[in-house]
This record gives sequence, C-alpha cells and structure tokens, in this order.
Amino acid sequence: MAQQQEEFKKALGNYPTGVTVVTTFDKENKPIGLTVNSFASVSLDPLLILWSIDKKSKSLEDFMSTEKFAVNILASDQEKLCFLFSSRVVDRFAQCEWQRSVNNLPILANTASILECKNVQQIEAGDHVILIGQVINILNADKAPLLYHQRSVGEIPKTFYQTI
Ligand SMILES: Cc1cc2nc3c(=O)[nH]c(=O)nc-3n(C[C@H](O)[C@H](O)[C@H](O)COP(=O)(O)O)c2cc1C
Repeated sequence: MAQQQEEFKKALGNYPTGVTVVTTFDKENKPIGLTVNSFASVSLDPLLILWSIDKKSKSLEDFMSTEKFAVNILASDQEKLCFLFSSRVVDRFAQCEWQRSVNNLPILANTASILECKNVQQIEAGDHVILIGQVINILNADKAPLLYHQRSVGEIPKTFYQTI
C-alpha cells in the first residue's frame, strides 16, 4: 500500500467511532447487513444521516436500490455482531437475534439505538458510495455503545468521562 494511504489509515485510526450494522432486505426478501463505522450525523431539520459503502461490497447493489435501511448502533457487549457482520459468513442473520420492524426492516436485538431511514440520496466518492438516509423511526435503549479505535473494539473506559 502506498505510504500516503498508510498515513491516512493511521490518522483516521486516531479518530475513534462507534460501531453500527446497517441492514435491509434484498430483492428476494432476505435480510442483509454489514458492519459500518463510516456512519455520521448530517442534519437535524430534516433528520439526515450518512454512511459509505465500499464499491467492492457484495451488498452494494442491494443497498443502492433499497428504499429503506436501518442503522443498528451496537451496544458495548455486542462485539460479536461487529465481527459477524464483517466476516465471510454468508447467512449472518442465522447467527444472531433479529426481528422484522413495523417499517419492514430487519433490526437487531439488544442494540444501543436503531435509526430506520429512507434511502434518499447517493453520492459516488472514490472507491465508496455515500448513502444519505432520512430518519423515519428512532429506537433508544439505555445502553453504553461499542467503540472502534485503532482496529480494536471495546467499551468506554471508566476514566473517560469528563463533561464538556
Ligand atoms: C469496525 C468496522 C467498520 C467497517 N466500516 C465499513 C464501512 O463504513 N463501509 C464499508 O463498506 N465496509 C465497512 N467495513 C467492512 C465490512 O463490514 C466488510 O467488508 C463486510 O464483510 C462487507 O460485507 P458484504 O461484502 O457482504 O457487503 C467495516 C468493518 C469493520 C470491522
């Protein structure tokens, strides 16, 4: 890998994120999903979020053509889901607890939060496509989030908390 790409990855590793699994149903009505940390908030009015998908992802076409998707924000004890949804396992939903939501999306059990979204805009950007979602439903549980930092996942250390 080029030196600049290595430095780029190192710099972004210094920006900890949460971990999400983005899910939808494909054209055959099978649940699909992948682990995503490119998720970010975009707008409060209207409520918009974004995430980006690798053009090499097996589910690229399905996510580009789906009407809706769900962003499942993982809780601190759900690192197994982070690994499952970024693994080579084909039927990922056979190995986790999930249900069909009222908005007809596959949603994972015991997450910290879920944002169900309408797929409203797509922007091609290099080797990824940015998907913008308009939030149509929000589910919140009182749970600590899972964090991703320098290729490791874990929970917020107790020493972290300092109100700003
Ligand atoms: C912590 C973490 C964050 C990830 N974030 C993204 C992301 O934002 N976009 C993406 O396309 N892949 C991301 N990936 C990689 C995908 O989860 C992985 O390539 C997955 O197997 C793709 O599934 P698919 O090919 O079945 O669509 C991430 C992986 C991990 C472990």
